[in-house]
Amino acid sequence: MTTISDGVTVVDHPLVRHKLTLMREKDRSTKSFRQLLNEIGMLLCYEVTRDLPMEMTEIETPLTKSMQPIIAGKKMVFAPILRAGVGFLDGMLELVPAARVAHIGLYRDPNTLQAVEYYFKAPSDIAERMVVVMDPMLATANSAVAAIDRLKERGAKDLRFVCLLAAPEGIERFRGAHPDVRIWTAAIDEKLNEHGYIVPGLGDAGDRMFGTR
Ligand code: URA
Repeated sequence: MTTISDGVTVVDHPLVRHKLTLMREKDRSTKSFRQLLNEIGMLLCYEVTRDLPMEMTEIETPLTKSMQPIIAGKKMVFAPILRAGVGFLDGMLELVPAARVAHIGLYRDPNTLQAVEYYFKAPSDIAERMVVVMDPMLATANSAVAAIDRLKERGAKDLRFVCLLAAPEGIERFRGAHPDVRIWTAAIDEKLNEHGYIVPGLGDAGDRMFGTR
């Protein structure tokens, strides 16, 4: 079942919940963690594209001509926030192979927890595209808010945000800064701790995905 409230969709499908539980386990291998993130990325992509506009087109089956639905030319950009956002990318591109990709390089200053930009590259026609911004952990939301600030500065108008885990504090900050951007997440956890980690969470998503612990 998928719950929707105040611009936040929790994709609590049994497959997503099961895979997320496996990812939370502290001894899960890097390989398995990466694979599961990729799989959940695919399932979240399915949900974030659920309301894409459709149009009818005439095709010819082996039996007859027939009017059938196709997606109505909505061009998409997938925008992973480096580096953990990359973990969702392959799964999403499996489902939407024609999507363009924007890269947004932001790191979290460990002292201030503020987002610092070090790279930004996006398609020039971003204003005409739906942009799906992705980062597994919506913790303080500093990176997510900064990424969406940057994308809006470049003209993006139709934005969505996808994460794996969100903290209530992050959702509040994100929705306060960008109330026009809907969020899709696999779960909303209890809280942030004093170091800005989501609890119970799964630790540092980037480190766990790339084996840099
Ligand atoms: N980023 C992570 O990777 N994990 C957290 O818990 C919070 C932010």
